[in-house]
Amino acid sequence: MKIISSIDELRDQLRGQLRTAFVPTMGNLHEGHLSLMRLAKRHGDPVVASIFVNRLQFGPNEDFDKYPRTFASDVEKLEKEGVYVLFAPTEKDLYPEPQEFRVRPPDDLGNTLEGEFRPGFFAGVTTVVLKLFSCVQPSVAVFGKKDYQQLMIVRNMSKQFALPTTIVAAETFRAEDGLALSSRNMYLSTDERGEAPTLFKTLNQVAQEVRGGQLQIDSLEQQAMAELRTRGWKPDYISVRKRSNLQTPSAAELAEGEPLVVLTAAKLGETRLIDNLEI
Ligand code: PAJ
Repeated sequence: MKIISSIDELRDQLRGQLRTAFVPTMGNLHEGHLSLMRLAKRHGDPVVASIFVNRLQFGPNEDFDKYPRTFASDVEKLEKEGVYVLFAPTEKDLYPEPQEFRVRPPDDLGNTLEGEFRPGFFAGVTTVVLKLFSCVQPSVAVFGKKDYQQLMIVRNMSKQFALPTTIVAAETFRAEDGLALSSRNMYLSTDERGEAPTLFKTLNQVAQEVRGGQLQIDSLEQQAMAELRTRGWKPDYISVRKRSNLQTPSAAELAEGEPLVVLTAAKLGETRLIDNLEI
């Protein structure tokens, strides 16, 4: 595997490649990330991964400085997966001058759910993803459903800017007890790790109620949040949305069997976890 940090060198290395499959990450790789590499291999050749902890998508009080950086073990894992190039730019490589242009997602998609609780987050994501796409020029890029809203925003961006990159979705990779793997799980204490699967269980309960015909979505959401609170969680949201655009379904849409997804973000101690489940 070639490890490349400069944009020019990356371009030289990938010149003439027409089927590149790309997996952008922020490192601290776990089985969830590696499942994306495997899916990428099925959709293109060569596979290019990136590791870049993108300052633009972190708020002033978020964990940019303490975000886990485990480069040596990440490299080993990617080698084993047969990744051809790892693009690992420094901030100076990727932002040699201040990044003043931004991609701004549309308000209805970018300012709801995660966007409501993390202002500017999705503009940070889309800006770096567009820039990474411009460096790698992939024909396919793989994103996890774990970050459902991110996946949808990147997909819409690619479509609206007519980028030559097809976005492929990977299923959420979970631990045996249901907890979605995440780099942030390592912040959890042993007790918290024991409690953490409750989040996915809660999503399953909500999904089951909706499937069973319970269409009082508001009260379902409130009840689920209240239950989490009694177990010591601080939920930001549990919300049933339309899969097509992540907006709230109308009563008529609910009755007509609109495809739905339930999404959540909640803090356990100091650790903020997100998850979702298609209903
Ligand atoms: P990061 O959190 O490192 O995630 C990289 C990719 O791995 C994303 O597409 C994410 O959805 C996927 N992923 C993470 N955990 C997963 C799991 N348990 N199952 C399946 N896929 C999982 O997401 C980012 O980085 C950044 O926002 C990035 C897109 C790299 C832009 O900076």
